[in-house]
Order: sequence, then C-alpha cells, then structure tokens
Amino acid sequence: MANTQKAMMIVDKHYKTGKVDPRLYGSFIEHLGRAVYEGIYEPDHPKADVRGFRKDVLELVCELNVPIVRYPGGNFVSGYNWEDGIGPVEERPSRLELAWRVIETNEVGLNEFCEWANKVNTEVMMAVNLGTRGIQDAKNILEYCNHPGGTYWSDLRKKHGYRDPYNIKVWCLGNEMDGPWQIGHKTAEEYGRIAYETAKVMKWVDPEIELVACGSSSSKMPTFPEWEATVLEHTYDYVDYLSLHIYYGNQDNDTPNFLANSLDMDEFIKTVISTCDYVKAKKRSKKKINLSFDEWNVWYHSNEADSKLEPWSIAPHQLEDIYNLEDALLIGCMLITLLKHADRVKIGCLAQLVNVIAPIMTEKGGLAWRQTIYYPFMHASNYGRGTVLNPIIDAPKYDTKDYMDVPIIEAIAVENDDKDELTIFAVNRDMEDGVDLECTIAGYEGYKIKEHIVLDGDDVKASNTLENPNRIVPRNLSNAQIDGEMLFVNLPRLSWNVIRLTK
Ligand code: AHR
Repeated sequence: MANTQKAMMIVDKHYKTGKVDPRLYGSFIEHLGRAVYEGIYEPDHPKADVRGFRKDVLELVCELNVPIVRYPGGNFVSGYNWEDGIGPVEERPSRLELAWRVIETNEVGLNEFCEWANKVNTEVMMAVNLGTRGIQDAKNILEYCNHPGGTYWSDLRKKHGYRDPYNIKVWCLGNEMDGPWQIGHKTAEEYGRIAYETAKVMKWVDPEIELVACGSSSSKMPTFPEWEATVLEHTYDYVDYLSLHIYYGNQDNDTPNFLANSLDMDEFIKTVISTCDYVKAKKRSKKKINLSFDEWNVWYHSNEADSKLEPWSIAPHQLEDIYNLEDALLIGCMLITLLKHADRVKIGCLAQLVNVIAPIMTEKGGLAWRQTIYYPFMHASNYGRGTVLNPIIDAPKYDTKDYMDVPIIEAIAVENDDKDELTIFAVNRDMEDGVDLECTIAGYEGYKIKEHIVLDGDDVKASNTLENPNRIVPRNLSNAQIDGEMLFVNLPRLSWNVIRLTK
C-alpha cells in the first residue's frame, strides 16, 4: 500500500528573489532536421498560410507564449552564409551543411524567419557565424537587419521588400565555440579575441543591441569554467550575457538519478555566476554580466537513430526525441531551477521548439501534436511571470548514483502582482508516494485556490505520439485547501503540479 510523505514549505511575500524576465521562456529554431522545413514551414500543407507557414504549428507556438526565439543555430550557424537566405528564393543556392551533414536549400532565410516570428508574437535572438566568418559578416548582417536605410545592406533589405528595420535586440556571438565538434572551434583566447572585436564593431553599428558571449557548451567540458573566465577577461566591457547550455539523458534507466539532474543545473548556474563576478571584481567593474541559458532540454532518445542516418539528405528526421512523462518531470525541475535564479538568468531557450528535441511535433502533410514536455513549459510560461519568491523547503531526501541529499520536492513560487495571483510550481520526485505539502503563504491571507493542475500518470515511460497524442495530458485536482495563511495540498507521486492562488 502506498504511504504519504510529508513536506513543508514557507513562502513570504517580502522574501523576493527578483523579477522574472519574460525572455526566460524563450526557445530555439535551428536549421536542423525538420525544425524549419516540415516544422514551421511547409507550403504544401493543407494548413499552410499564404507564406507557407503551418497555421496549426503557429497556434501551438502561440499557446506556449514564447517571447524570444534563437535563430538560425546552433552548430549550423558556424558554417552559415546568411546571404544565401536572402533575395529571390529561386536564386538561392543549395549548400552542403557540414554541422549536421545535410543539404540546406535556403528556401527559408532571415526575412522569412522574422515574418514567422512576427506571426507568433516573438522577438528574434540572432546568432552570427564566428566559426568560418567574423567581424565583417557580423557587421553586415546587423546593418541589413537593424539599420534604417541609406547604406548598401540596409537598402538591400528594402529592395527585398522589407522596408522597416527589424531592430533585433539580442545577438549571440557564435555558438559553442569551445566544442571540438564546432566548425571553426577555438581556444578560449582565440574566441575571446574575436568575440571582443566583433562585439565592439557590432555595438558601433547599433549601440542598442545586447550581446551574448559563448560560455561552455556544458559544465562537463574539460575547459569549464576556465573558458568562461578567459572569454570574459576579453569581452567584459562589450557583452551583456554569458551563455550556458545543458542536455540531460536517462541512458542508464535510473529515474531517481535522472530526476535529480536539476541539482547539477543549479550548480552549473551558481558556478557561472561566481565566474562572472570574479571577473567583475578583477576588472573593478560596476557592470554585472547576466546569464543566457540559451540551450537546455532532455536529449538522448534519438541518438542511436541519428547515428544511422545517411548524409546529404534534405530535412531528415534528426534529433526527434519522443518524450515521456519522466522527461516532462525533469523539464519541470529545470524550469523551477531557472526561476530560482531569476535575478541573474535573464534569457532561457528551451532547445528546441518544433520537431528537433522539441515540445511540438509535426507529421508531413498531417497533424501537429504536443509532447509531454510541452505542458510544464506552457504552464511556467503562462503562469510563471512576475516576481519569484525565495521559498524555504523541508522535504525528505534521497541519494542516487550521482547525487546526495536530493529533496523529493522541487518547488518555487511566483507572484503576479498585475493579476493578484500567486502560483506554486512543484515536482514530486518520489517513485512510490504522494506528498502532503504544508505551505505557509505569509502575506497572502484571503487568497483562494483557483486551480491545481497536475501532470502525472500510471507509467512514467508513457509518451504522446502521432497515434495517441493525448496519452499524457494535464488534469485538475481538487484536494488543495487554504486555512488563513496555510495551504495544504497533496502532490501525487511522480507529478508536476501548478497550484494557482488568487485573491
Ligand atoms: O540543439 C542541438 C545542438 O546542441 C545545437 O546545434 C548545438 O549548439 C548543441 O550542441
């Protein structure tokens, strides 16, 4: 018979971590696999709009309420000629794309992507190629995108039919330049120098932009965190954010250990914050560098299938992880971890958005559906805006292969002043038992329960598929109760919970 565990949490209206930057709920579209072609863009699809964008995908993206989308890569950007993707489509070249060993047709380029971004009400976060290219090309693409007119590149944009500048605000200085797999991989010194010179020139072209320097491509890299320190020594005065990337997998089929990976993410963030502040102190600088966690997700299900792909096809099924319930629970824990650091992590990009390690999947010519990980992201993006409150949590703990003292409960609270709402996000990692959570909500007397949404299920390995797209969907529970400044709620075993309170 299942037992019930007990946990305590204290949330106080006055104990604030900081405001959530809405860009924490960003995502990522790379020219990779079927993210663009057959993903956001499929002109022959019955639901395509006049520009060839799938309206069913547009709707699902809008539901996620994604405020910023990184583009066009990823590893792809390190070999990309952005000029291949502008001008008349019939004149655009097909190229060997070396990062993913496919053929890129360039049917979609930056103008089409900006049109798509406009349709889903999102900002573009543009990456420049610092693998095979450098200062001049970064300057040119910025001039094409952001300069009002009267120069070669800005007038070319107008000639292409896009009169107004895009005023793209956030720009990434390359991608994962610390990784030997990257086209044009660099040492920290080499990257620090080119990133500094590129940043300097880009800010001369448009002083309003914000720049993201590449941090390590994961905390497991042998050069981490020395890479961060060296890169910032060079770039500190010209950049605004340092990037972090991480992907987790459950290759060993060890669910308790897998669900504890957000502790590693937490440690990663803390180390990067410390490194940024170390360089700040060394430089006697008043400026603070914030964090852009611009790639994070679960990624491992598709590795074997991808290793068997023949090279040089167009838009193959690449990185098409089919996510299960336990993946959604880890995504919930990772979202909570990002929120815990909302004072320093200003941008986050769930990598990626459609088909490629994505919350949204599509069938060519057919349906679009929501993966399990879609739901925690949608809930956090829609209800996790406002001010993060720093909670105190006392919960039973467990040890795993890689982690000690893993609390069975991961939780955070976000207050939305505009709507008089307080939302608690919580994951119960316990494999067997539900947890009775007693939560003090100091300063929220008179609040009532609006809803308690739960994502759980009888099988933690169950997935949504084309054939059964609603196998794992959220449901509403009604066991939560409030008495004065106390909230009592049962969190089912292995569950993601959203408890929405309102005045
Ligand atoms: O998101 C998939 C890939 O993961 C990206 O192209 C790269 O930046 C990272 O290694």
